[in-house]
Amino acid sequence: MQNEKRVATGIPGLDAMVNGGFLPRTANLVEGAPGTGKSTLGMQYIYEGARRDEPGIIFTFEEFPEQYYRDAASFGWDFRELERQNRLRIIMSSPEVTKADLENVGGTIQNLITEMGAQRMLIDSITHFEGLRQDPVESRKLMYGYLNALKRQDLTMILTRETTHLFGEGLEGQLDASIQFLADTYIMLRYVEIESTVQRAIVVLKMRGSGHDSTIRQYAIDAHGLKVLQPFEGQEGVLSGSPKRMTESFMKAFVRR
Ligand SMILES: Nc1ncnc2c1ncn2[C@@H]1O[C@H](COP(=O)(O)OP(=O)(O)O)[C@@H](O)[C@H]1O
Ligand SMILES: [Mg+2]
Repeated sequence: MQNEKRVATGIPGLDAMVNGGFLPRTANLVEGAPGTGKSTLGMQYIYEGARRDEPGIIFTFEEFPEQYYRDAASFGWDFRELERQNRLRIIMSSPEVTKADLENVGGTIQNLITEMGAQRMLIDSITHFEGLRQDPVESRKLMYGYLNALKRQDLTMILTRETTHLFGEGLEGQLDASIQFLADTYIMLRYVEIESTVQRAIVVLKMRGSGHDSTIRQYAIDAHGLKVLQPFEGQEGVLSGSPKRMTESFMKAFVRR
């Protein structure tokens, strides 16, 4: 598995954190509060794929495709043109419709994947599943079925998941074992307050079947997209949002290998 060709995200600094890229046919979770840059990271992954002749599909349950065209354009990415070239497709749907479609051999999604030769997918976001049924167990079942159907499609996926808390406090309680189980890679985006300024932090918490960088790094979003920067130095407890807490013990508390 270590020698299998990696799927490079093309995001500056991120590939080095994940040993060169994602493993093929994996589901890679990116989690963070609103505005941390989950959609940006996902769109950039799809955009970089399209440029490398690895077509991609963006699935959205919440935002209209228009929003993606606009956001992408603000980074200089012409998603409409990529769609014309059949390297990209943005699909807005409901989880139920998508799941039913995936369960049919020769359904529209499967046909689209084949026709485009799609290799990448962004699902923005899986948070939508969580409130879909009164019973959280039922919601989770739906998500399981859905992701499993997608995993059979030979795609390398990014799933985004929104958390409500802005900083790190209370993190441990938010981690859902079943979601961790589904995801092959778990990437966290966090706001961090250091000396009265808010900074952005990224960490790869796990990567199934692969080594990875486990330092907490800064990242920035500018007119070209997202880029990963240097590690936070001498900032114990960065992830908790309170530099007084020890990163070490925090990491130990919730990284289960
Ligand atoms: N062109 C841009 N230049 C700089 N920052 C941008 C640009 N477009 C968006 N951003 C920043 O990216 C963030 C939005 O990221 P987004 O991917 O929508 O977050 P999420 O999906 O996690 O809610 C915001 O913090 C916004 O300030
Ligand atoms: Mg978003």
